[in-house]
Amino acid sequence: MKKSTPTVQRYLKQQRQLYGDTLFIMNDHNSDEHDNPETQGESHPLTDYFNKIRDCEECQLSESRTNFVFGTGNPDADIVFVGEAPGKNEDLQGIPFVGRAGKLLDKILEAIQLSRKDVFILNVLKCRPPNNRDPLSSEVDKCEPYLKKQLDILNPKLIVCLGRISGKTLLRLDMPLGKMRENMHSYNGIDAMVTYHPAALLRNPNLKKAAWEDFQMIRDKYLLAD
Ligand code: URA
Repeated sequence: MKKSTPTVQRYLKQQRQLYGDTLFIMNDHNSDEHDNPETQGESHPLTDYFNKIRDCEECQLSESRTNFVFGTGNPDADIVFVGEAPGKNEDLQGIPFVGRAGKLLDKILEAIQLSRKDVFILNVLKCRPPNNRDPLSSEVDKCEPYLKKQLDILNPKLIVCLGRISGKTLLRLDMPLGKMRENMHSYNGIDAMVTYHPAALLRNPNLKKAAWEDFQMIRDKYLLAD
């Protein structure tokens, strides 16, 4: 069998990191880019933005990362999930939420008839903090413009913050998570809410009931209402 070239391999890896295993048919947003084999016929603004920021060295996390974890899913998703930061598995694969917490998120999505190909999943930080420590505020400050631009491009109907760090960064909420989830919020005119991080549900299964109520609300208000 003929071996694939490094350019093709890089392209396929990029496609998997951004869009998972689903082939999305993109609108041709920018026809000037046709002589670049990496973007040929496929110049979605999200792909362009990924290529622009993937080699980021704005903070020290770039020194220890294996992969820059941009985020993965459907570029036309109505619902975007925002986690905290990549862990070990995410760093190795370049894809968010692929470890234990991610498997639980997959199950919860399935319970409301969604899968990864329906939503987009990303994190506040794009690189793994060593030993999964909490993000430093200096790291969040450097990475936040990336998140904002991604949300600008994705322009979903609903943003779901997974955990306190996500709610605090995106919605500027300074309160315990239990309080954050009591109300709907708004991010630049987009509906936003906060629910428990799947890792918290693994640590404390008593929280699952409340999280399930949040996901039922997502289903009833944003999926069944269409
Ligand atoms: N936890 C997160 O917040 N994000 C991931 O991608 C994985 C675990």
